[in-house]
Amino acid sequence: MDDKIVAANFKTNHTRRSTAEYVEAIDLFLSEKKIGLPLYIFPPSTALDSFETKNSIHIGAQNAYPTVKGSFTGEIGLQQLEEFGIDTILVGHSERRHILKETQEFVAEKFRWFKERGFTIFYCIGEPLEVRKAGEEAVRQYLLKQCEGIDTSYENLVLAYEPVWAIGTGKTATPELIEQTHALIKAFSDRPLLYGGSVKPQNIKEILEVPGCDGALIGTSSWEVSGMVSMLRKVKG
Ligand code: 13P
Repeated sequence: MDDKIVAANFKTNHTRRSTAEYVEAIDLFLSEKKIGLPLYIFPPSTALDSFETKNSIHIGAQNAYPTVKGSFTGEIGLQQLEEFGIDTILVGHSERRHILKETQEFVAEKFRWFKERGFTIFYCIGEPLEVRKAGEEAVRQYLLKQCEGIDTSYENLVLAYEPVWAIGTGKTATPELIEQTHALIKAFSDRPLLYGGSVKPQNIKEILEVPGCDGALIGTSSWEVSGMVSMLRKVKG
């Protein structure tokens, strides 16, 4: 499964020091076990850094404002990312859409801006429970709307399907549902497509084996080195 993409979204967890310790520990583990898969880590912005690693560990930003620099209090822009050579960003995460009220227009603007600068963009889409309950066509329409203004054939795009009802809830989507939904998405984009939502050591292998699933975007279970290591072991074994 060395071609799968595994990504850890730290959300609002970890400090600068604990992130550095985490990256070092995971790098060592990948070397020891000769695991070659591309690993992406999205630490909080205070912990962004240029880490020297022996393996393919990419550091990405969870968020940034579409600007080089300027007056956007509380935000970071390209200047702050370039300091550490960061060229990977998460856009459209459901927590930013729902909690921070980012609109589709703003998400699309951010996407365009970072695309113009060649960033690798992890673009997240996913339906809330009421839409899932309304059936597959409703889900398809919802996901299509979340791709309005997005170039879904962008060469440096990685899509992530993260159903809102599965994020941080412990309720993972079933392999059948992941397969079905990934097929809906693959019908309009041929870019790599990850699944996210309560991925954990107990289910990562099964999820990565789902046809049409190119990797996993992991929150909670990725935050401790021990959790990440046990997931990587499952991927390897
Ligand atoms: P959990 O793995 O905690 O469900 O979070 C998923 C997620 O939001 C990754 O971006």
